[in-house]
Amino acid sequence: MRVVIAGGHGKIALLLERVLAERGDRAVGLIRNPAHVADVQQAGAEAVVCDLEAASAGDVAVLLSGADAVVFAAGAGAGSGAPRKDSVDRGASVLMAGAAERAGVRRFVQISSMGAGQPPQPGRGAVWAAYITAKTAAEDDLRSRDLDWTILRPGGLTDAPATGRIRLAGPPVPAGTVPRADVAAVIAALLDEPGTRHQTLELVSGHSPVAAAVRSTS
Ligand SMILES: NC(=O)c1ccc[n+]([C@@H]2O[C@H](COP(=O)([O-])OP(=O)(O)OC[C@H]3O[C@@H](n4cnc5c(N)ncnc54)[C@H](OP(=O)(O)O)[C@@H]3O)[C@@H](O)[C@H]2O)c1
Repeated sequence: MRVVIAGGHGKIALLLERVLAERGDRAVGLIRNPAHVADVQQAGAEAVVCDLEAASAGDVAVLLSGADAVVFAAGAGAGSGAPRKDSVDRGASVLMAGAAERAGVRRFVQISSMGAGQPPQPGRGAVWAAYITAKTAAEDDLRSRDLDWTILRPGGLTDAPATGRIRLAGPPVPAGTVPRADVAAVIAALLDEPGTRHQTLELVSGHSPVAAAVRSTS
């Protein structure tokens, strides 16, 4: 399977690239900083420099040609302001989804966030509100498209080692955290499970083994 990962140098993306390489899939990481090429290659993926806030859907569609799946793993990240929540967390996802349609790549897994799909909680600040608004808009855009999409909403991300045990279900799942390594394992499993298309799934740490949890949602 050839999987194109938007935000290929992100923490989840690098973990996912390793998982995909280990099982014999080919990953391509789209990155904006040429200094990140070596890290992506070390994770076992091909690195392609493509700034998702500057590229056109036509540019990206060319990069997606021949791919079997797209994973949206980009994000403006901590420390960014409201404008980049819109240009990356919403805009880059819309760009990738449009390019996937153009290129005929049907399978699309989007990393969203718990909290999306509802009005932002009051009191968490303007940047949080912009983030949740952007994630919600990206989800809505993806659902409107003729793609085999799966929206994955993790809880708070940690850098703890993988546990292999998760709680994965349609909303609402009670708030919690989850290691990025478990998120990467879930995405790899979702790519193998087309029955999870057209589902919005929330993810936190739990008791179910990843493969069983993913199978039970399809
Ligand atoms: N933090 C949380 O607790 C939490 C919870 C739920 C969901 N999420 C979501 O989970 C996703 C992945 O999380 P993560 O921790 O793996 O993220 P991350 O490490 O911050 O990675 C995001 C990647 O997106 C890339 N990116 C930003 N703008 C780009 C652009 N214009 N073109 C290409 N790439 C660009 C960044 O590249 P640069 O290094 O060049 O900036 C970075 O490598 C994000 O969408 C995040 O919102 C986070």
